[in-house]
Amino acid sequence: MPDKIKIRLAVFASGSGSNAEKLISYFRDHPVIEVALVVSNRPDAYVLKRAERLNVSSVVISPAEWRNPDVIKNIFTQNKIDGIVLAGYLLLIPGYFIRMYPDKILNIHPALLPEYGGKGMYGMHVHRAVIKSGSPKSGITIHLVNEAYDKGRIVFQKSLNILPGETPEGLAKRVQELEHRYYPDVVERYFSQ
Ligand code: GAR
Repeated sequence: MPDKIKIRLAVFASGSGSNAEKLISYFRDHPVIEVALVVSNRPDAYVLKRAERLNVSSVVISPAEWRNPDVIKNIFTQNKIDGIVLAGYLLLIPGYFIRMYPDKILNIHPALLPEYGGKGMYGMHVHRAVIKSGSPKSGITIHLVNEAYDKGRIVFQKSLNILPGETPEGLAKRVQELEHRYYPDVVERYFSQ
């Protein structure tokens, strides 16, 4: 199938990008979907090195550029992007961009929303809060993005039981395994429907 009729996704990441790498690998040679662009807000994010190694175009978009809808529309039109997958992206997505991609922006959160979400709840902050609360479960949530952090419609959740004496670091590792295992598959099903 020629490239131009595939669904072209942009993956957004602010840091390491291990989920971005899983998504890129999963959709390599996929008949329907491709990861066409990696977007980061940080020029030093490791995800950019991964993108380069995996031969995927990338772009750094600064907060100032995000404040200019014309610049942003240009980038996404030129790259013919059909959908957005957030994978550890820590800036709030502006309203005009959400309206550009209605129901076409997915995010993954490393806990069971609606708990342990909201501003400032990312990465290890989430796992520390879960362990501190004494909650018996954590897991992953994949949801649509709207204008409030972590409040869009949930499309998938998978839970795990917290182990006796579990540390935030141990929990982070097990949650990340769930992310790597399920995110590509959920993205595939969501964007193929
Ligand atoms: C992932 O665990 C993702 O769920 C989390 O950032 C991590 C990125 O890891 N996102 C949030 O906390 C968003 N609130 P990665 O860069 O190795 O994919």
